[in-house]
Amino acid sequence: MLTNSLGRTDRLNWVHPVSQWAGKSEEGPLIFDHAEGLWLTDNHGQQYLDGFAGLWCVNAGYGQKSVVAAAMVQMEKLPYATGYFDFASEAAIRMAEKVAELTPGNLNHVYFSLGGSDAVDSALRFIDYYWTAKGQPERKHILSLEKGYHGSSSTGAGVTGLAPFHAGFSVPTATQHHIPAPGPYRSEDPSDAAVIAASVKALKDRVHALGADKVAAFFAEPVQGSGGVIVQPHGWLKAMREACDELGILFVVDEVITGFGRTGKMFAQEHEDVQADIMTMAKGMTSGYSPMGACVLSDKVFDGIAEGGGSIGHGYTYSGHPVSAAVGLEVIRLYQEGGILANAEKQSPYFMQALKRLEDHPLVGDVRGLGLLAAVEIVADKEAKTPFAADSGISPKLFKEMLGNGLIARCFNDGTIGLAPALTINSNEIDMIVDRIETSLNALTF
Ligand SMILES: Cc1ncc(COP(=O)(O)O)c(C=O)c1O
Repeated sequence: MLTNSLGRTDRLNWVHPVSQWAGKSEEGPLIFDHAEGLWLTDNHGQQYLDGFAGLWCVNAGYGQKSVVAAAMVQMEKLPYATGYFDFASEAAIRMAEKVAELTPGNLNHVYFSLGGSDAVDSALRFIDYYWTAKGQPERKHILSLEKGYHGSSSTGAGVTGLAPFHAGFSVPTATQHHIPAPGPYRSEDPSDAAVIAASVKALKDRVHALGADKVAAFFAEPVQGSGGVIVQPHGWLKAMREACDELGILFVVDEVITGFGRTGKMFAQEHEDVQADIMTMAKGMTSGYSPMGACVLSDKVFDGIAEGGGSIGHGYTYSGHPVSAAVGLEVIRLYQEGGILANAEKQSPYFMQALKRLEDHPLVGDVRGLGLLAAVEIVADKEAKTPFAADSGISPKLFKEMLGNGLIARCFNDGTIGLAPALTINSNEIDMIVDRIETSLNALTF
């Protein structure tokens, strides 16, 4: 039963993102009240260790006072300035400069969005415009990975390769296609070379089947987050970049999760010295303290669009919001000068080492990750790598156990646990995450 009026009001009035609308739980939501570091406290005073940084976004951890101060100063000085009509604010200009400086190679042109979905949506519109400007408007097909997640805008949801984001909506469209990306654990031959070769072949085969001159772009996450934290072997991203060059299509890297230190580097492309033609980002960009994302264009794409001439009819009222820009600048300062990125790099090996302790558990099939982004894949049969069926109830059961043990982590439909703690994590908190997962797994009965 709903125990407080806030919970009842929530059920009456708030349409939650990615939620069940019919038969909402009688328990009401878990209402968070305040937070510090990696620790969330609910409105009953119960504490939780946040192993998921909100929604893989609070990379700097909660309670960063200098970020709050930066937002307050900007709010008092100039709470809003449009970027339309050649207007600007200093904060947005400085944030664009900072993003261009941090992103690889000649990814120099920053279009600000409010989050990841509209960054991807902007990328899709710019890709369309680019090929039209280049005199190849027939290039309409977009490829991406099965189980990839690229947000839930009306077009981007079809680039996403997860069935729950398609069901009931008219996506994927006839120009949106997905190629397999099973990762080493679920590949017949799990060797790096075989996994990479299979992926490159799948991309090339599909592009040739569609007609290479009809394909516009390929989208990829360096680590597939919402699909279950699927980590491809080192060398995969570079091989896909090279395949796109060979095919003459644009290569879009979606770093909405992997950006801003999540994988141990500022951007995951740095692990392989790769540069996308277009890159999307959000989440860690402001550490979730206020909404901001970006679609960053390489010189090639920007120039291609600019040379088409005319005014580009794409814009949002809050593109380059000065308060989010001020927040982003301070968050990035903390990553770089405040030692947060250095801590992520330092803690990443211990994080994986500690999680690997779970590999011996009878329910654990695979432990994988990159930096402070990891998955513990739960299986019904360890030998046969049989996943739990989505209707087995494993996911809500395990999630509830972990919550009861004071741990917040993502639980995918098959029970796979997703972890993305704040980059400020210490080794004691890493041990607590692992211990709480183990206790939760031990409590599961079928
Ligand atoms: C890789 C990726 N792209 C895009 C998005 C969409 O971002 P948002 O939820 O901010 O719209 C997400 C969200 O998790 C994501 O993981």
